This record gives sequence, structure tokens and C-alpha cells, in this order.
Amino acid sequence: MSAASLSAWARRQTQLTFLASGTEFRLGRAEDCPLPPAALAAVSGDEPWVRACLDDGLTARVYRLRLAGRDWALKVARRPCRVQNPDGQTSFLNELQRRRDFARLMRTPEQAERLAGIVPTQYASLQQGIILSPWVEGRRIERWDERQLTELFDLLIALLLAGLFEWDLAAGNTLDDGRIRLFDFGYLYPFDPLRQYNSDGLASPGFHVAERFETRQLFACLLRLERESEAQALADFELEKRIALDAYQRLQQELAARGASQGVLDWLDDIMRRWRAALTGNLGALYLQEAWRSHWLDVKDDLSGQSCTPLTLQRLAWLRDKATTQHAELLAGGALANERRPDREALLDDLRQAEAQAIRWQLRDTRSAEGV
Ligand SMILES: Nc1ncnc2c1ncn2[C@@H]1O[C@H](COP(=O)(O)OP(=O)(O)OP(=O)(O)O)[C@@H](O)[C@H]1O
Ligand SMILES: [Mg+2]
Repeated sequence: MSAASLSAWARRQTQLTFLASGTEFRLGRAEDCPLPPAALAAVSGDEPWVRACLDDGLTARVYRLRLAGRDWALKVARRPCRVQNPDGQTSFLNELQRRRDFARLMRTPEQAERLAGIVPTQYASLQQGIILSPWVEGRRIERWDERQLTELFDLLIALLLAGLFEWDLAAGNTLDDGRIRLFDFGYLYPFDPLRQYNSDGLASPGFHVAERFETRQLFACLLRLERESEAQALADFELEKRIALDAYQRLQQELAARGASQGVLDWLDDIMRRWRAALTGNLGALYLQEAWRSHWLDVKDDLSGQSCTPLTLQRLAWLRDKATTQHAELLAGGALANERRPDREALLDDLRQAEAQAIRWQLRDTRSAEGV
């Protein structure tokens, strides 16, 4: 998902070796399944106990089941996975490993409380390619309000402090049933929060949970909102930044109390200083920078997985518009610092090429993903 680092590389290699060995990895007990696991694994979708089939996930097909008086989510792995890169290939195994981590963490009542937004696992098997969880009767979020943002960041901070970094905070991976729920752990990786920025170690300081949320989800919402009212989009952005700032302050205090390295504490300081300055100064300038980063990163991510959607094209249209009309502001604010060729014409050229690829790599039978 990002620049290679030793820890990411090592994690990937270990997982690929594990997969190649054909070893089974199971969670839960078959006796606790409402049907024998083999019957679940053989689901075709026509069974009377199947209430619905969600076919738009990239890693899996998800069935809503009605069994033993309850509703369940049955996730059946796609083979091959529709994300054409090693992180995609290892995502189902990774999800099982993280669900095992959660089962362990939840044994502590305090952790169970802080991680209550994590959907539990009833049963899972790597070789059978299934994960069974309680069904969440929730809805996707079109516009994030204060409660939702607060719950999301509380949960993300709890994950970070437990040594887990979530990369894929896309709209399809968050549900609200009165509480924000996370249930897709294909790109949730372990890391050391006291010494590393994220699961890439110290290689990619640009990636942190607020950035992940903005990149994978929030700016898709704001893109939609901008069409109605730029002032509303800016107000929603301000709310998110205030809540993220509050969460990061608490995160930093806790990391400091646990003896985190100065490098990690300073890194968080820099991020917070920038947000604080914008919240009391020019918020519009920060919006432009963060929106540019979010749209461009997400487009590159879609291209690298060859998993593009209509949203990829909408993001590209926004990028083209800003490269044309606000190139000087982008340059001055640092948004183009990582560009190989930051001048306007070269940038527009790169965007045109990205657009051609995005058209070529549109996923078939995918609903306009991420809710746009
Ligand atoms: N426990 C659950 N309760 C309700 N809905 C669920 C549950 N688990 C999954 N879903 C639904 O199924 C969809 C796909 O699930 P999930 O994100 O786990 O699959 P995926 O294939 O890994 O997705 P992707 O790789 O595209 O992120 C979700 O967007 C959600 O709508
Ligand atoms: Mg998902």
C-alpha cells in the first residue's frame, strides 16, 4: 500500500510463506457455528437461509445469513483476490491474524470496552476461506457528524495504542448502528507505536490514521459536498480536524507516558502544530493541501491495485481542476513536494496518464464504490 520498508516487507514475506505452506489457520470452534463450517464454505447464495449477497468487496463476497435466530455476516474469500498486489493477496490471512489479536486483547475488560466498536469473530478458517461474524444492522456514513468522528478517532487511538495500524478506512469498511463499527481487517497491520509511525516503520511519515481516514473516505464525502457548498465542506473539515487534534493530543500524552521515542513524539507535534495553526488561521489553505494529498494518494492506490471505480475518475477531475487553477498555492503549501515533476504542465500530463489508466482499470460490476 505504500513505500516498501523492512517491517512491511518482512510481514508480507512471512504471510506469503505461510500461505504457500497450505497450513490451516482457524478461529473459534466448529460447535459454535450455526451450521457446520463446510456447509458455510459451500454457500451458493440460493439457500433459504441466505438473506442477501454483497458482491462489491474486493477481497471477499459477503452473505447476510439468518441462522439460529440471528443474522450473520459470512465473508467468503475471493480466489484470486481482486486487488492485484501482494498486500491484496495476503489480506484474507492478515484479517484472520488480526481477528486472533482481537480475541486475545478482548480478554482484558478495559480493552474490551475501548475496542467495543470492533465486530467480533464467531468462526473463521483460512483453508475454507470463511469468516463468520454477527451481522451489524448499520448504515454507511454520507456525512460524518461529531459523535461519529469522536467514536471513530477513539477507536483508532485504542487500536494504535494496542499496536495496530489501520490503512483502509474506506467508506465500505465503516458502519454506524448507533456506534461506529469496524469489521474489515485486511489491511490492519501490527506495529510498535512507541518507535514507529505506522506499520512501514519510519519509512513513511506521511501516513497516520487521520490521513488514512481523510484519504480513503472523508475527502470522497467532501468532494460530493463541495458541489453543493464549499463552505459546508470546509465546516465539515474543520469539525474533523478539531476532533482529530483532540484525539492526537491524548495519543501523544499516552505514548509519552509509556516512554515513546522522541522521534515519534516530535512527529506528532509537527502534525498537530500544522493543524492548530490552520484552525486559528487559514483553514482553506490546509483544506487544499490535505484534499490534494488525499485524492492523489487514493488514485495512486487504486492504480497500483488495478482497482479503479467512478470515484477514481471524479478524484482525478478534481486534481486536474486544482492543478490548472491553483498550481501556485499547491506549490507554496508543499502539496507538490513529493512530485517528480511539480511544474504545471508536467503535473497535468501525469494526471492525464493516470486518467487513461483509471479508465482502463475500471472494475466490472462494482457499484460506484465508496458511496459516490
Ligand atoms: N459484520 C457485518 N455486518 C454487516 N455488514 C457487513 C459485515 N461485514 C461486512 N459487511 C458488508 O460487506 C461489505 C464487504 O465486507 P468487507 O469490507 O469485510 O469485505 P472486503 O471484500 O474485504 O472489502 P474490500 O476489500 O473492498 O474493502 C461491507 O462493505 C459491508 O457493507
Ligand atoms: Mg472492505
